[in-house]
Amino acid sequence: MLRTRTIIKGTGSCIPPRLIPNESFAGHAFFEDYGQPYPTDKTARIIAKFQDITDIAERRYAAEDQLASDLAFEAGRAAIEDAGIDPETLDYVIVAHNFGDLRPDNHRTDQVPTLAAKVKAKLRIANPECVAYDLPFGCPGWVQAVIQAHYFLQSGDAKRALVIGAETLSRVSDPADRDSMIYADGAGAVILEAQEHAEAVGILSHATRSDTLEHVGLLWLGTTFDEDSEDRQLYIKMKGRKLYEYAVSHVPGLVKRSLEKAGLSLADVNKVLIHQANGKMDDAILRRIGRLYGVSELPTDIMPMTVSWLGNSSVATVPTLLDLVRKGKMEGHSLNSGDVAVLASVGAGMNINSIVYRMP
Ligand SMILES: CC(C)(COP(=O)(O)OP(=O)(O)OC[C@H]1O[C@@H](n2cnc3c(N)ncnc32)[C@H](O)[C@@H]1OP(=O)(O)O)[C@@H](O)C(=O)NCCC(=O)NCCS
Repeated sequence: MLRTRTIIKGTGSCIPPRLIPNESFAGHAFFEDYGQPYPTDKTARIIAKFQDITDIAERRYAAEDQLASDLAFEAGRAAIEDAGIDPETLDYVIVAHNFGDLRPDNHRTDQVPTLAAKVKAKLRIANPECVAYDLPFGCPGWVQAVIQAHYFLQSGDAKRALVIGAETLSRVSDPADRDSMIYADGAGAVILEAQEHAEAVGILSHATRSDTLEHVGLLWLGTTFDEDSEDRQLYIKMKGRKLYEYAVSHVPGLVKRSLEKAGLSLADVNKVLIHQANGKMDDAILRRIGRLYGVSELPTDIMPMTVSWLGNSSVATVPTLLDLVRKGKMEGHSLNSGDVAVLASVGAGMNINSIVYRMP
């Protein structure tokens, strides 16, 4: 029997132009929290340790004149082109982000109008029934926006949605905080379309949790660790180790729940496209997912990774990864008809989500 399925019709991404290798932090004076500076002759060791514990060797930053909405526009335009659709037929443009448009010299978040409104205008979409809005949900914002769009498509009210994740974390990175080396800029996008299929394809299931009571304080905005500085801008701060422990403890169970909702097991999964925050953390999450299924050896190509060269671009990591794999731009990785992919993310809130998707 034919049923309405939510299908990814096109993908796009914007990898910003400025390549920032770890060595570019060599001149930084890092501080231990709001306290003692690390001796500057230790900076090289800190950077080497950073690479060792995260796998991140370089990341991309937006150009000085690029805003998050510019990156979002580029990714959106690429997804529309890939899908080969008329943008006027879109029912929704949804942009997930956390900090809005941030100028390099002023951290005041600019979200009026919304980034989605700016993107829709830049795409020259005239159709007033194409609804443009933003979704803040921490790093899992893009996955959550896909889940929302899926509901719209399944309701029958909408046929097509452009869902973008865009962020410029470099603009809220504290130069005195060694954890800020994780952060990057970027954007990724999909076109979702409601299609009639007899086979169970497209979004098969999804699951989300928000653990706010205990974990709301793991990410926040604070001033620089360098207390003697005149700088009063606000930067993203995190309790990195606690975040790590939270993610490793809770992501595997939620991925399993989403697979159970789809009536699938880990053996049915071809790709795990997971939020790129820390390579070592993602390895630990994957091992624990395996353990939940009594599996100690997983296929080596199950979890494509970009974090070593793209860093953590928040909401942009999963759609960028999806775009690169789908278009055969990640060596040794592909997504073919019938393949099952899990799209999972974790971030501020704390929020976690997971989508199970079968390629049509
Ligand atoms: C922040 C993070 C990189 C720290 O890594 P970790 O393995 O938890 O580090 P630990 O606190 O256990 O410390 C281990 C060692 O690394 C050092 N270290 C910790 N953070 C470091 C950093 N950012 N750079 C360099 N060294 C660091 C510690 O000093 C310690 O060194 P030692 O072994 O010489 O004593 C890691 O916890 C992390 O990635 N957390 C999650 C990040 C995340 O998901 N953020 C979400 C944004 S969406």
